[in-house]
Amino acid sequence: MIDNDTQALLERRQQLLGPMSTFYDEPLHLVRGQGVHVWDAEGREYLDCYNNVPHVGHCHPKVVEAICSQAATLNTHTRYLHETILEYVERLTATFDKSLSSAIMTCTGSEANDIALRIAQSVTGKSGVIATDHTYHGNTMAVAQLSCTNPPPGGHWPNIRHVPTPDSYRDARTSSGELDATSFTASVEQAIQSLDAAGHGTSALVICPYLANEGFPDIPPGWLNDAVAAVRRVGGVVIADEVQPGFGRIGTHFWGHQYAGFVPEIVTLGKPMANGHPVGGVVTQHSFLESFRRDFRYFNTFGGNPVSAAAALATLNVVEEEGLMENARVVGDYARTGLTQLAQRHACIGDVRGRGLMFGAELVVSRDTKLPATKLAKQVANGLRQRGVILNFLGIHYNTLKIRPPLPFSKANANHLLDTLDATLTDVLQQYNVDVDQ
Ligand SMILES: Cc1ncc(COP(=O)(O)O)c(C=O)c1O
Repeated sequence: MIDNDTQALLERRQQLLGPMSTFYDEPLHLVRGQGVHVWDAEGREYLDCYNNVPHVGHCHPKVVEAICSQAATLNTHTRYLHETILEYVERLTATFDKSLSSAIMTCTGSEANDIALRIAQSVTGKSGVIATDHTYHGNTMAVAQLSCTNPPPGGHWPNIRHVPTPDSYRDARTSSGELDATSFTASVEQAIQSLDAAGHGTSALVICPYLANEGFPDIPPGWLNDAVAAVRRVGGVVIADEVQPGFGRIGTHFWGHQYAGFVPEIVTLGKPMANGHPVGGVVTQHSFLESFRRDFRYFNTFGGNPVSAAAALATLNVVEEEGLMENARVVGDYARTGLTQLAQRHACIGDVRGRGLMFGAELVVSRDTKLPATKLAKQVANGLRQRGVILNFLGIHYNTLKIRPPLPFSKANANHLLDTLDATLTDVLQQYNVDVDQ
């Protein structure tokens, strides 16, 4: 039930901002956050199991202090010299392979991907781009072309090719039990041929190495290598979109591509980079930036300003000082084990997967048929919200619970999540009509 105040706020918002969806049947009106918790306008506390932007915790005092103190000192743009952006880029690039030594700071992940596409075009002299068919890389005119879930009105540009998203729960396995990469590689090769035949050539494969928006199918290290090699054979480059898995979230590696086992030519960053302050970035080879700056006159008024650089630097410092990547590994393993145990009691949990603090469970109508329980996933997310735990669902069938909390998430928080999920599943399943999901 939506109360009168919430309804009034929704209508005012709709009037002022246009139709724009909110999470949950009963939208949340959040007014405060701290650590891994947020509070609504009535003072009700929620465990945040979803938001990756407050990477080191909502309103982390060190990030707040860095923003406030720089904002009280000076904020300009990158046509003036400033040391903080240089210190930040030195520190940031030190976390990558040596070849990835230069960066551009932006305000969003979309801008970062837009620049990455232009860098790829500049260094290859080609325009064809390959992406998966269930991805999201942002909202600029060019980057929106990469989406199949919200295809642009009038159709995709002719230089875009989509390849099928792997489904580790259902697709064929090799004799050693691993997800077979053959058909994914073949799709990339086909896309390359098609781009060649159309005269575009292949400039880039743009891919999240964790396939986060695709529902994080379980792809083992090396799985993408043949597809990457196919792109490179024709002179194309690989753009790793690290907006979701980056900055230590997956626990064992600081970057998703490091776990995947390849070094991209270009990496794009966003969401968690400055703990909520709008910062994104592109990290690449120095010669690539030279080529880009030669071909495109690029300036970003707000990208890399001293306040943004200070916020990003403080965030990186906290990740390291508080050992948050290790925490993601330990607590992520613990929570996934708990989720697997929960699957013994709830047959609707078909698959548990993920790494570090980006994991989840795929809900199914039946484990035999593996039919996605999409409506159930929505009911569970809403039921959890009513019980003070926020998460959401995604994936190619929109039936995968997506658990991606701020990194200071503890084992006690994981227990709270698991207990609440257990109670919610029990409750929701009592009213669940399987036929509705079939
Ligand atoms: C993988 C990925 N790339 C890029 C973006 C775009 O980032 P932004 O919303 O900061 O433009 C998103 C946003 O959800 C994303 O999930």
